[in-house]
Amino acid sequence: MKNNVETHNLIDLKARLADLEQKHREFVQNKQRQMSSSDNFAHHNALRGLPIESKESKDKKQFPKVKANSTTKTSENKVRTSLITSDKPLISDEMGITKSIEATIGPVGLDIGTSHIVLAVDNGNHIKTTKQLNAFFTVPATNITKKTLTNKNILFFESNQLLYITGYAADNFANMFNTSTRRPIEKGMLNAKEAADGQGIAVIASLINSITSGPKVSGETICFSVPGSPLDDYVSTLYHESMIKQHLLSLGYSPISINEGHAIVMSELAEDDFTGIGISMGGGMCNVCFSFLSVPVITYSIRIGGDYIDLMAGQSLGIPATKVKLFKEESLDLINPFKDKVTTALAIFYEDLIIKLVKSLKKVIDRSENLPMISQAVPIVLSGGSALPNGVRGMFEEILKKISLQIDISSVRLANDPLNSTAKGALIMSMTENI
Ligand SMILES: Nc1ncnc2c1ncn2[C@@H]1O[C@H](COP(=O)(O)OP(=O)(O)OP(=O)(O)O)[C@@H](O)[C@H]1O
Ligand SMILES: [Mg+2]
Repeated sequence: MKNNVETHNLIDLKARLADLEQKHREFVQNKQRQMSSSDNFAHHNALRGLPIESKESKDKKQFPKVKANSTTKTSENKVRTSLITSDKPLISDEMGITKSIEATIGPVGLDIGTSHIVLAVDNGNHIKTTKQLNAFFTVPATNITKKTLTNKNILFFESNQLLYITGYAADNFANMFNTSTRRPIEKGMLNAKEAADGQGIAVIASLINSITSGPKVSGETICFSVPGSPLDDYVSTLYHESMIKQHLLSLGYSPISINEGHAIVMSELAEDDFTGIGISMGGGMCNVCFSFLSVPVITYSIRIGGDYIDLMAGQSLGIPATKVKLFKEESLDLINPFKDKVTTALAIFYEDLIIKLVKSLKKVIDRSENLPMISQAVPIVLSGGSALPNGVRGMFEEILKKISLQIDISSVRLANDPLNSTAKGALIMSMTENI
């Protein structure tokens, strides 16, 4: 965990701020001269207005120095807020069955993932995250079951003569019935089968409502994570994003979205001027964002992640994926891949996933015609639950060495808190939105 902001070396921070502010000033000036070259880039609404330098040749360019104006002052404040927030320590909490649901105060970050939903708020000297399991389990609706669930404070709603038990409680029920929970989100997006009878979004709404009752002040910004467009899958993220936005609006928030890979950059790469590649290796997918001075230049996803590893390793060994997952989360160490047969199978499919991920990176970067000119090598930061096992970072680094990218990579790092960095990055974006 990074130092608390109070104990941070202020001289360092000031120097970084001055440097970053200078770069932003130069950038704004450059935009006026380079408007035509920015057309093909993704522009994010929270730090909108920042221009992109087009890659016209391999030569490195110098931007001219200019005076600050009101636009640049706004950018500077956004940068300042981002830097300070990203240095704050993080305290995380699971949404237990008996916890009371509170209204949020101030801007909010929300990570809607295949496995978990994580809410982040700024508590002054630290960031607080609250996590909920993104799963449900149905039982027949009878009066006695309804009463029992209500008495026990168990989260549920009723539809079509079924009781939908949602969140961590669903896991307990599934274990009792010796089966698995169902999920409203599959491979990063609202599950078409669940969405078809309207229950997918109803489950997500119930889970969001279990970690926030809405904003204390109506209209407060909430920034929620959305997946990048899948690289090899013709699926639109629009339905997923619109349905979630609608629910957040109904709670009284002003919702904005952030690409999941971009959220990783905002959370982890403040010291690199928000320039680099953020990768979230989650349960259902891997999200990638190449960001240049906080602007998402390239974003995409591949629809495989931790679930794929569990399923493939389980199939190969003839054991349920849920058992493999349990082992993986509790004791997987990829440094010793031949320790036992489960570790070996997991290592094989981890390698498979990372090869696919690195190849996708090469494919996307190689075919991109508008890469910004960068004079220095940029870092890659790995995040998400699937980046957690010992040895993932090293495996990624080794596989990366075998390919050549148009961009030089300075290092491959692990996020400070891989299960919470998407929510933290979304919070940073939310906080900078109103500046
Ligand atoms: N300690 C651990 N070791 C290994 N894997 C873990 C660990 N903890 C969680 N995971 C895996 O991480 C994945 C979930 O990660 P995460 O919560 O980042 O995903 P998500 O954001 O819900 O999903 P996505 O981003 O794909 O939509 C699961 O595959 C889970 O098994
Ligand atoms: Mg995720």
